[in-house]
Amino acid sequence: MRIFVYPGTFDPVTNGHLDIINRAAKICDKLIVAVLVNRSKAPEFTLEERVSFLKDTLRSRTNIEVATFSGLLVDFMKERKATTIIKGLRAVSDFEYEFQMALLNKNLDSEIETLFMMTNINYSYLSSSAVRELASHGGNIKDLVPDCIIGRIYEKYGCKGCSTQNI
Ligand code: PNS
Repeated sequence: MRIFVYPGTFDPVTNGHLDIINRAAKICDKLIVAVLVNRSKAPEFTLEERVSFLKDTLRSRTNIEVATFSGLLVDFMKERKATTIIKGLRAVSDFEYEFQMALLNKNLDSEIETLFMMTNINYSYLSSSAVRELASHGGNIKDLVPDCIIGRIYEKYGCKGCSTQNI
């Protein structure tokens, strides 16, 4: 059984993440979307919110599990008998950081592979931070995040009517 892990902060999940999740789920038996608990920089959305956004988005998917992890990713991988880390690459600017991460993880556990997927060109400009910035100013986030979480993102910023005003 090939178990892959797609790790991240998902603050919040975007359609760019979802694109990688959908493609990765096709090439493994089970995909674990692993949400990082501890961050030096506190995420905008709570762990519960980030997990709930993912679970609602991926509700009907049988070979996808949403889990949380803290500490080292490779330890979580070993615990879950996972072999491969899935990462999405948007632009050259992502490469340096991801290259370092992949080598650090390889150094920690040589059995674990990191597999990079190029983002869909339509989402190459998209990031969680851009979604937060837009939503905090009441900008339109439709088509950037899954429809089922749009209302809750606006709510976070006290912009309850935004989802209907701007779409
Ligand atoms: O969505 P992000 O913020 O780019 O995700 C980063 C993440 C969670 C993949 C990365 O920070 C991570 O793997 N953190 C766990 C700690 C770890 O194992 N670090 C790598 C080796 S030092």
